[in-house]
Amino acid sequence: MSVCLAKVPKYELNDGREIPAIALGTYLGYDKNGVVKSINKQLRNVILQAIDVGYRHFDTASIYDTEEEIGEAIRMKIDEGAVRREDIFITTKLWNTHHRRNQVTKAVRESLTKFGLDFIDLYLMHWPIGLNEDYSYTDVDYLETWRGMEDAHQLGLVKSIGLSNFNKTQLERVITRGSVKPAALQIEIHPQIPQTELVRYAQSQGVVVMGYSPFGSLVMRYGVHFPGLDGPTLGDIAGKYGKTPAQVLLRWLVERNIIPIPKTVKYSRLKENINIFDFQLTQEDMQKINQFDDETRYTMPSFWQTHPYYPFERVDNPVPNPFRRS
Ligand SMILES: NC(=O)c1ccc[n+]([C@@H]2O[C@H](COP(=O)([O-])OP(=O)(O)OC[C@H]3O[C@@H](n4cnc5c(N)ncnc54)[C@H](OP(=O)(O)O)[C@@H]3O)[C@@H](O)[C@H]2O)c1
Repeated sequence: MSVCLAKVPKYELNDGREIPAIALGTYLGYDKNGVVKSINKQLRNVILQAIDVGYRHFDTASIYDTEEEIGEAIRMKIDEGAVRREDIFITTKLWNTHHRRNQVTKAVRESLTKFGLDFIDLYLMHWPIGLNEDYSYTDVDYLETWRGMEDAHQLGLVKSIGLSNFNKTQLERVITRGSVKPAALQIEIHPQIPQTELVRYAQSQGVVVMGYSPFGSLVMRYGVHFPGLDGPTLGDIAGKYGKTPAQVLLRWLVERNIIPIPKTVKYSRLKENINIFDFQLTQEDMQKINQFDDETRYTMPSFWQTHPYYPFERVDNPVPNPFRRS
């Protein structure tokens, strides 16, 4: 099969390593049975195709339950001689139920066993929120968890460490109180929630920013079409560059030196989403897209908002907790 390999630039992390400028998202969503699982190796096959079209960076988390199939695909491609381990960048995340310092390295080893690999490139604390196995709150300070991440880093099991879903105050606290500076921060970013202040702060500290849910309301969320990015603006801009609205949204992140994490399981969209490094948006088009800012978060676990380390603004009517086990 002949495929066009997209050329993806890299950013330098503050620990001297390099990270590819786009990551493939691998969270398959959530339904009444819990986290949606890959059936018949669907995800493994998507990763094989993704490597063929040029993806070298994969974003997962222990809670997504996709580490096994990602690892299997990567090992297959290494065995085939198509890539070497050092060509691939794996980001995965520590789940909230393993926040005690002595739980972190154990969680890393569990992820490594699932991948069938011997190191992780970037390990993120998924949330600043510590939970017990039954999902009741712990009072574990995320600084304690960060020490555990530093332990795993020291052991060489994870090459870089970072944070996800931290607010500015929390990020600042880890930067000032930790021994290792976070290399990356992963947060929700799309034109409806550009996170200008947090991105500016992180980047000013040399922390690379990764943006999840980059398509905002261009795509269905929780089976619902939300208003926001509809209307002719994106289509008009896309037409001008001979690109799609989805590519324009991804490029809007790239223009801000943010790593977009688009998720797709479709081959045509894998190709579409990575082909964003051959055009540039003008300042005028960036400004037009910036006007979609209405502070909409699609990931807002308000059921945790009574937790002392909840990172987001609190709301009047929190949604019921779909995770609670007791
Ligand atoms: N750190 C965190 O807490 C956190 C939270 C959420 C997400 N994430 C990460 O970020 C990744 C992406 O976030 P996300 O899944 O919420 O949102 P997303 O990537 O913005 O949207 C995914 C949706 O867009 C569709 N899609 C993909 N490419 C498209 C295109 N070119 N045109 C039209 N539709 C397209 C996909 O459908 P098809 O698959 O059918 O193509 C899927 O329904 C996740 O997979 C995960 O790795 C991290």
